Amino acid sequence: MLNSIDPKTLASNLSTKLIGQRIISYSKITSTMDGARTEARKNAPEGTVIIAKEQTAGRGRKQRTWISPAGSLTLSIVLYPDLHLLPALVMLTPLAALRSITAVARIKPQIKWPNDLLIREKKVCGVLIENQMRGNTVNYTIVGIGINVNINLADFPEISSIATSISDEIGKEVSMTKLAQQLFVEFERIYTAARQGILPYEEWRDNMLILGRKVTISSEDDIYSGIAESVAPDGSLSLRLSDGSLINIVAGDASLVIN
Ligand code: BTN
Repeated sequence: MLNSIDPKTLASNLSTKLIGQRIISYSKITSTMDGARTEARKNAPEGTVIIAKEQTAGRGRKQRTWISPAGSLTLSIVLYPDLHLLPALVMLTPLAALRSITAVARIKPQIKWPNDLLIREKKVCGVLIENQMRGNTVNYTIVGIGINVNINLADFPEISSIATSISDEIGKEVSMTKLAQQLFVEFERIYTAARQGILPYEEWRDNMLILGRKVTISSEDDIYSGIAESVAPDGSLSLRLSDGSLINIVAGDASLVIN
């Protein structure tokens, strides 16, 4: 069964110690982010995964809707990171997804700053990170990952110009269970290393699609256009504006400008 996940199979033969040691599976839920928040409030063990076949109110960044039909991998991970690790999650999470897609599907996506994955400039994976803070302490963090795995995008004309799926790109379906297991392994590897102070900044930078390209960045306060010049280890983006000045953007959303 390539196109569905059996929670028992998913949990069996899992080589991780943290991620996915507890898996809560729903056939239908509003959003796995909601399920994960409920678990985190009950002090679920770190690495608990909430996975769903169907989300009725899947969400993306900036209050966007996330469409997740059958054939999407939709899951959220409960974490309790130190405050200093929060910015790093923006690079760790897409890289874990990139590594797992590359390993299982033998196709390498690129990263669109800060944490989208694209294949042939169309979105194949989105990441949503929600933090619950008390003062300067992180109560919990929920990392949500949505991957278009075995979806025929022609069936979804509303997003087919901007989104793609692994199966559309490689011409065959891949095992959702294998991909999820690989994602748990890669996320655990990258998160454990980060907790020991090892950040995969160069890998994140070297797989970045937008560098040297004309982009529009919508940040919280404004919209900027320019050439994406570099990304920094703190996750920020340097943008060269048309007047020659260089600005540093900490958080935002990038769109490639097609000339
Ligand atoms: C984005 O690109 O804006 C982020 C999309 C994140 C989607 C995932 S799917 C699993 C988890 N549940 C959600 O409702 N959203 C995230």
